[in-house]
Amino acid sequence: MSRDLLSLSPVIPVVVVDAVDQAVPLARALAAGGIGIVELTLRTEAGLDAIRAIAAEVPEVVVGAGTVTTPARARQAAQAGAQFLVSPGATPSLLAAMGDTGLPFLPGTATVSEALAVLEAGYSEMKFFPAEASGGTGYLGSLTTVLPDARFCPTGGIGLGTAPAYLALPNVGCVGGSWLTPRDALASGDWDRITALAAEAAALR
Ligand code: 3PG
Repeated sequence: MSRDLLSLSPVIPVVVVDAVDQAVPLARALAAGGIGIVELTLRTEAGLDAIRAIAAEVPEVVVGAGTVTTPARARQAAQAGAQFLVSPGATPSLLAAMGDTGLPFLPGTATVSEALAVLEAGYSEMKFFPAEASGGTGYLGSLTTVLPDARFCPTGGIGLGTAPAYLALPNVGCVGGSWLTPRDALASGDWDRITALAAEAAALR
């Protein structure tokens, strides 16, 4: 299931919403540009309600929760209608709670040992975070030989210009990034700009 998650789109847009009323138009703007998936971070108060709104009103977009850092957050996101979960890191209790939701999820890893722990728990798809600061394509590419079963969604510091080098790696399914949904575009309701950014990202594969 989460293997399918990494194959849905070349880019998973990572969004920080400041107001719930941004949620539905932003999801529609992404879909209009050809991106059918969105990760709403739980970093702001509006995060859970934004997930609820998209799940109810924009069924053509797969909506997930990001910045899931505690077992309680995993449960709340699932109850709000999230269809997948993403965490910046993974502890045994967080992995168990995300697994208990029955949803596909991407636990965050940045080192070989962290990736091994996720593989050991029975999961082969994971986030590589923070991608650029952790060594970028050079580091991630060098994991291919030692961790042939791991498949990554690198996120953190990636943009349109650097995404292709990640997508060319054999152990990368898609990349994540916030560049498709700039906070000022969300605040001003510049949905055309988001559609244009989504179209550029959709053309990456
Ligand atoms: C995340 O939550 O995955 C990152 O904050 C997204 O990273 P970016 O803002 O550098 O794209």
